[in-house]
Amino acid sequence: MRRTTRFLSGTLLAYSLLAYSVSAAASKVEVLHWWTSAGEAKAASVLRQGMERQGYQWQDFAVGGRAGISAMNTLRIRAISGNPPLAAQIKGPEITEWARLGFLRNLNNIADAEQWEAKIPAPLRDVMQYQGNYVAAPINIHRVNWLWINLRAFEAADADIPTDFDSFFIAADKLKQAGYVPLALGGEPWQVATLFDSLALSVMGPQLYQRAFLNFERNALLSDGVIEAFRLLAKMRKYVDDKGQGRNWSDTTQLLINNQAGMQVMGDWAKGEFFAANQQEGKAFTCVAVPGTKHAFSYNVDSFVFFKPNNENERQSQADIASYLLTPQFQRDFNRYKGSLPIRFDVPLPEDDHCAHASRDAFLYAQEHGTLSPSMSHGLSTTRYVQSAIFDVIDEFFYDPKQTPREAAEALYRAILSAQA
Ligand code: GAL
Repeated sequence: MRRTTRFLSGTLLAYSLLAYSVSAAASKVEVLHWWTSAGEAKAASVLRQGMERQGYQWQDFAVGGRAGISAMNTLRIRAISGNPPLAAQIKGPEITEWARLGFLRNLNNIADAEQWEAKIPAPLRDVMQYQGNYVAAPINIHRVNWLWINLRAFEAADADIPTDFDSFFIAADKLKQAGYVPLALGGEPWQVATLFDSLALSVMGPQLYQRAFLNFERNALLSDGVIEAFRLLAKMRKYVDDKGQGRNWSDTTQLLINNQAGMQVMGDWAKGEFFAANQQEGKAFTCVAVPGTKHAFSYNVDSFVFFKPNNENERQSQADIASYLLTPQFQRDFNRYKGSLPIRFDVPLPEDDHCAHASRDAFLYAQEHGTLSPSMSHGLSTTRYVQSAIFDVIDEFFYDPKQTPREAAEALYRAILSAQA
C-alpha cells in the first residue's frame, strides 16, 4: 500500500513536472514593438529580461522603421488573419480604434489591483481608456519638442545655444561656416513632420496648436500660425544636408554623435542614442526646448495593448506583462535607456540625467498651466490615417520649394478634411 502511494505520488510529481514544462514551453510572450535603434533595443531588453526572470520565453516581434508605421502595417495583417501577438505597442487615439473593433482585452482588474489611478498622471489616464475602461498599459512619457545640441560643434563654431529663432539661425549660419551640417534631419515624412510639429507648437502656442491639430478646427488650420510654421519650415531647408533622403532618425542622431552635425529636433528617444554611444550630457551634448516652446510640453506616451486571450495561460502572461510595466524597477531601468520619463512620478530620476529632470519640470509646469499638448507627429492627437495625410502635405512642401506656405496650409486643411470623411 505504502509502495503504491509512493508510486502514485512519484507519478504525480512526474506529471506535474511535465505539466510545468509544458506550460513553461507554452508561456511564450510575443510582443510587437518598433524599438530597434541602439538605445531603444537596450530599453526593450529590460522588458525581455524581466519576463525571462519570471520564467517566460520572450519572442521578440520587433518591426523597426518610420516610428512605428511599418510595425502597425504588420500588426494589421496579423490581427486580420486572427493571429495577433500577445501584446503590441499602440499609442494615442489608435488605442480607441482597436478597442472599438473589439480586439482588446479589458485591463480594469489589473488597473484596480495595482492602483493605476494613483500611479498614472491624470491627463494621461484617458489615453489608456476606452468607454471608461482601461485597455492599454502606459510605459513612459516622451517629450517631443527638444532641440539636441552637439556641444563640440557649437564650441568649434563659436556658436551660442539658441533661445529663440533669431539666435537659432545665427547659430546655424556659424555651424555651416565651420563645416558642420547645422540641422540633422532624416528625409522621412515622419521626421520632417516631427520638426514641423515643434515649429507649429512654437509659433502657434499650445492653445491654437490644439485647436488645429487635436480638434482640427478650420479657422485654426487656416490661421496665420500654420502659415508661419510652414514659413519657418521652409527656412530650415538650407541648413539640412543633401544626403538625408530616407535616412532613419537614429542614423541622423549619429551625425551629432560623430561630430558632423550641430543640432537635431527630435523627441528624447534621441537621448537614448547619445547614452548608448557613451556620450555625456553637458560635455558632448545637451538638450534645450525648441525655441519658443520652453513652457510647452508636446507629449508622446508609449503604451502596450493586449489582444483578447485564447486561454487562461495567455491571460496570465498578459497580466504579468502589464503588471511588470508599472513596477518601479522596470520604470527606472527602461526609461533610463529609452530617454523618456517614467510614467510613475514616484520613481526617482537618475541624478546625472539633467535632460530627464528638465523634462519632468517642464511636464509639471505644463500640467499646471494647461500647456500639455498631445503630439500630432507621434500619434497622440489623432489616428494614423489622419496623421499620414498630414505627413504627406508637410513632406511635399519641404521638398517642393515652389509651393507657398499659404498653399501648404490650404493643402493641409483639405487633406485633413478628406482623411476624416
Ligand atoms: C516614437 C515612439 C518612441 C520612439 C520613436 C522612434 O513614435 O513613441 O518610443 O521609439 O518613435 O522610434
